[in-house]
Order: sequence, then C-alpha cells, then structure tokens
Amino acid sequence: MIKKAIFPVGGLGTRFLPATKALPKEMLPVVDKPLIQYAVEEAAEAGIDEFIFVTGRNKSAIEDHFDHSYELEKTLIAKGKTEALTVVHDMIHKPGSVSYVRQQDPAGLGHAVWCARNMVHNEPVAVLLADDLILGKSCIAEMAKHYHGGNMVAVMNVSMDQTHAYGIITPGTDDGKLVEVMGLIEKPKPEDAPSNIAIVGRYIIEPAVFQTLSKSERGAGGEIQLTDALAQQIGKSAFFGLRFSGERFDCGSKMGFLQANVAFAMANEMLAPNLKKWIKDRYS
Ligand code: G1P
Repeated sequence: MIKKAIFPVGGLGTRFLPATKALPKEMLPVVDKPLIQYAVEEAAEAGIDEFIFVTGRNKSAIEDHFDHSYELEKTLIAKGKTEALTVVHDMIHKPGSVSYVRQQDPAGLGHAVWCARNMVHNEPVAVLLADDLILGKSCIAEMAKHYHGGNMVAVMNVSMDQTHAYGIITPGTDDGKLVEVMGLIEKPKPEDAPSNIAIVGRYIIEPAVFQTLSKSERGAGGEIQLTDALAQQIGKSAFFGLRFSGERFDCGSKMGFLQANVAFAMANEMLAPNLKKWIKDRYS
C-alpha cells in the first residue's frame, strides 16, 4: 500500500507570466480548483494520506490553500453558505499529514524528489506533477492497483515530434495496459528516441532511487533528472509503465491549460449545457 506522495511544486512557471509572477503556477485554476488540489485529490483516491510538498520561494499560497481560513469560514457560517463551507472543510487534512520542504535551487525534478528523502523511509512513494492534469479515473490509484514492487511510471503514446518534451521508454513486453520498461531517456530528439511512449508525471518509486539521486548526477538540460535515477534501476528491480485510462492535459502549456478548462467545464453538468451553446453560437 502506498501511503505517501511527493508533489514537486518548486518550478517558476515562466510559461505563464505574468500570471505566475506572485502566484504559484500550481495554484492556477482549472474551472474552480487549483491544479495542485486536483493532484492531491487524485492521490487521496489512491488511499494516500501523507502529502509532501517540495516547494520553493513564493509558494506560500499553496500552504495557505491547504490550511484553515478562519475568517472565511466564520463569514460562510454567518451567511449560512453551507455548501461553500463544506468545500473548504473537505480539503483540510488530518493535522501532521501535510508537510513542506524547500528546494533551495531549482536543480531539476530528481533534485526536488531527493529533497523529500528525510520524510520517506524504507517504502515506495508516489510522485505527482500537478502540471499533468488527468480527467477521469485517478491515475495514481490505477497505478497503485497494478504495483507489485520496483518502479512504475504512467505512460502514453505521443507523436514522434514531441519526444523532446518527455522522458521516453524503450518498451519490452507489453499487454496493452502494462508495458515493461527496458530503457529510459530524458527528452530525446525524435531521431534518438527509442519509441514514442512517453512518461506522464505520475511515478511510484522505490527507496533505491533516493540513493541514486544523492549522487547528484546532472543529465538533460544540466538538471538532476528523475528519469536518469529511474533508468539506473533497470535490471535490478521490476519496472513497468502503465497506460492509464484517464485523459491527460499538459497544463504546463497554455494550449493544454485552455483545453483542460474546456474539457473539465464540459464534464461539469452545471456548466456544460450553457458553455456548449455559447461556443456553438459564437464560433461555428
Ligand atoms: C517531466 C519529466 C519527464 C516527463 C514529464 C511529464 O518533464 O522530466 O520525464 O515526461 O515531466 O510531464 P517536465 O515537463 O517537467 O520538463
């Protein structure tokens, strides 16, 4: 059973400036909920009840978001807004189950995960990148169901000209759902890519990965890459990619973020009919 999840949230979000000048990019809302809350809820659906945020400077809004806001709660009570009150109460986790660690330098995803090492003991841990938003079934719950030790990543097929944006696997046996990972390379050019099967930001990693990360070896882009540390486990323990059933949106890009907003609104029965009509009237 996976009990802990790491959320690397130290990134600067330069692609969303000026919105992310003072606001953490993980707080950007899709419809009415910040990206980071979707990721936390996805983890909770997998039975995870310890949440470790690897933050950076200017990220205090994330800490406030998962804490009480007594002023707001008092006002909602006074105005009898019980529905809104339930929304803000439901997102408060048991005291002590949310922790924060600072990544002082943005030295890469592997470095961010390594910063959480003292909060993880001899146990597998989930890693969720809030930029990758998944509509549908909880991806990490699906992974946990299929996890029997070693390492696991969520994967999806991308077009060959997109391999430079992802970790790409060399596939082994493949039953259509679980694909064995025989090799792993971070952001290869199409001509160097071993396949078009890409890692989406959901991982279950074993303790040995932290030992590799402590060597602080720099990889693609001069950063300490999680992909490289995972690649070193190949042949030593089980390693699978899971083709998840949900739909993934790349909310690290403007287009993906806009698509996510439309898709999540269309999946919301209160908003869908009017939005559909408005889009039809205005754009067709
Ligand atoms: C990170 C990982 C990459 C993975 C991607 C998924 O890259 O390093 O292996 O495929 O997330 O979104 P980033 O998008 O943070 O550059």
